[in-house]
Amino acid sequence: MKESNVGTIGVLTSGGDAPGMNAAIRAVTRAGIYHGLMVYGIHKGYDGLLNGNMKEMTLRSVGDIIQRGGTVLQTARSAEFATEEGVNRGISMAGVFGIDALVVIGGDGSFRGARDLARQGMKVVCIPGTIDNDIACTDYTIGYDTAMNTVLDAIDKIRDTAYSHERCSVMEVMGRNAGWIAVNCGIAGGAEAVIIPEHEFDIDKDIILPIIEGRNRGKKNYLVIVAEGIGRVEEIARYIEDKTDIITRETILGHIQRGGSPTMTDRVMASRMGVYAVELLKNGKYNRVVASRGGKITDYDIDEALNMKKTIDEELINIGKILAL
Ligand code: F6P
Repeated sequence: MKESNVGTIGVLTSGGDAPGMNAAIRAVTRAGIYHGLMVYGIHKGYDGLLNGNMKEMTLRSVGDIIQRGGTVLQTARSAEFATEEGVNRGISMAGVFGIDALVVIGGDGSFRGARDLARQGMKVVCIPGTIDNDIACTDYTIGYDTAMNTVLDAIDKIRDTAYSHERCSVMEVMGRNAGWIAVNCGIAGGAEAVIIPEHEFDIDKDIILPIIEGRNRGKKNYLVIVAEGIGRVEEIARYIEDKTDIITRETILGHIQRGGSPTMTDRVMASRMGVYAVELLKNGKYNRVVASRGGKITDYDIDEALNMKKTIDEELINIGKILAL
């Protein structure tokens, strides 16, 4: 193992918040201190790095946060950091605080920021934290399980009212350009149709037909899940109503999906990834992205990770279709 010359690290959360980010901050801080490192908590993502908005963390500063949603360090999408000048300011400010390495918790936009820092000589380790599960090198991203359970809770409630009125419900779920939340919640919530950006769709064949066939078999309510990347839920709902005569209501779940207390899966995953990130730095390994593959925590070179592509699991899509009968 290479000798580490890292003595002080900074940890930040960037991009959209995700439940479990606090568990990751806690893990990085406690593992860092356990391994004899000084740990700075950087506030408001890369903006905080540029402005020196950071404080030394102690074992106690991360007490009582594992169960909380959001991020105690807060987060931002920094426009300035996207410029070369911004990156250089970040490096220079890290120098002022004696920070040798950064742990970045966020999505792929945040990882691109980390890669830019790495190109200017900063040591970085990234931890995947986004509800979207759209980071290619990892099977899992922190926040995904909690968000799906939030969606599922909403689906169950909407089904109660949809059944009572014999209606159709069209629900838009988050995931930016990825259909992961939509597909899994479609299976778990028993959706008649799931429309995702990764697949072309034909509204008559993929939505209207399963609804009408379902009605002919005696179904009393109908659920269509539309991933955010498709949008147009209102238009889809009106089309369904016009074509089927079934009263149809649309719901955009929105940011409720990003909040709430993290599930056990998210807390444990965040804890494992946070400890692993610190161990990488301790062992002189940096410019890596922490990942979960086949249940094991591993890591990838940051450039390699950013060049990887993730495709939606076709088996899951088929399961959803079979069970919607
Ligand atoms: O990346 C997480 C996410 O919640 C996406 O699903 C969504 O497209 C986006 O963030 C929303 O971003 P904002 O909170 O900036 O509106």
